[in-house]
Amino acid sequence: MFNFDFYNPTRIVFGPDTIARLDDLVPTDARVMVLFGGQSARKTGTLAQVNEALGARHVQEFGGIEPNPSYETLMQAVAQVREQQLDFLLAVGGGSVIDGTKFVAAAVGYEGDAWNILETRGAGIRQALPFANVLTLPATGSEMNHSGVVTRRATQAKLPFRSVHVFPQFSILDPSKTQTLPVRQLANGVVDAFVHVMEQYLTYPVDARVQDRFAEGLLQTLIEIGPQVLKESADYSTRANLMWTATLALNGLIGAGVPQDWSTHMIGHELTALHGIDHARTLAIVLPANLKVRREAKRAKLLQYAERVWHISQGDDEQRIDAAIQKTRTFFESLGLPTRLAAYQLDADDIDGLLKQLDAHRLTALGEHRDVTLDVSRQILEASL
Ligand code: NZQ
Ligand code: ZN
Repeated sequence: MFNFDFYNPTRIVFGPDTIARLDDLVPTDARVMVLFGGQSARKTGTLAQVNEALGARHVQEFGGIEPNPSYETLMQAVAQVREQQLDFLLAVGGGSVIDGTKFVAAAVGYEGDAWNILETRGAGIRQALPFANVLTLPATGSEMNHSGVVTRRATQAKLPFRSVHVFPQFSILDPSKTQTLPVRQLANGVVDAFVHVMEQYLTYPVDARVQDRFAEGLLQTLIEIGPQVLKESADYSTRANLMWTATLALNGLIGAGVPQDWSTHMIGHELTALHGIDHARTLAIVLPANLKVRREAKRAKLLQYAERVWHISQGDDEQRIDAAIQKTRTFFESLGLPTRLAAYQLDADDIDGLLKQLDAHRLTALGEHRDVTLDVSRQILEASL
């Protein structure tokens, strides 16, 4: 049995040479802030294409949004938007720039301390500036969802927020923009999208047949294109499939009405905040250990995953579950993402610090059954050493 209220107003414009469409999608009288990251958007020429498409509109730039965007930097953008009375935000980048733009959109008109947006996980957001995206990195799905993740550097707190007010108006997805991505970011993108599907699929059955089969299709697509995405660095079609898969992995569709886990992500966020490990790389470490520790509660779905995604037919139930978890681990490793904390010089002594942060962020009852207590998180981290 499942029920849901599915809402997603984001328009997607997908294909090569679609940046020019900004001219008809952004209001002609908009006072635009273009937000971007380090230097990639400028170096690759994407920023110039965006400026050309925006033509005579009033445009100001805000660069320097870091990977895992910081509250401190984003508040500078908020001040600039307020001072200059800008009224439309355009993110040019990957998940970090898009998430940061969502935060700025919500913070500009926020009453009170903007950090409360994170403290309340977005519940306090009443309105936001309109914004849109030019996506340059397929991974997070942020281009078609209403979530973001922001880090406060001062306290090493990396927290998510969510609000219906921060759905993008539209996102431009031009797969040829991925051609300049380093292999590491492409591999990260495959794994991030894979784990997004797993967080919504690998829980317990609720007879949601379409959601399940859609999720299995996305996982199989990622398994198929993963190695190609890395090798054929200029293949448009492979990149197009990655881009659309990553968007569909986290736009709400496969998660409609089904139980969701997200404990791998929450534990992973603490690894990024404390130890600076790339988002997807934290997931590659935590997911296999998480499946291992919670195999009883996830038994039925693990068997379905083994059969339908990895086509494992040999052995008894325990052996098939073991094989499916091992295949997952091997897949991540084959893309160059280590699946052990040891690869980042972390050991048992580092676990207490991570648990302390989970506790401080009230992340003490995670997972689809809310039974991932700090003790279970400890077991998961110990299983990922
Ligand atoms: O900063 P620049 O110079 O632009 O370089 C970026 C950055 O260093 C580079 N890059 C982006 N597009 C490029 C490019 N380099 C060459 N060519 C291009 N076309 O890639 C680097 C990483 O970018 P980033 O945006 O940080 O990566 P990603 O898209 O993986 O985003 C990660 C962030 O998204 C959050 C993560 O926690 C993390 O903060 N997430 C957001 C989610 C959401 N909103 O729904 C869900 C995810 O689970 C995730 O938590
Ligand atoms: Zn993710």
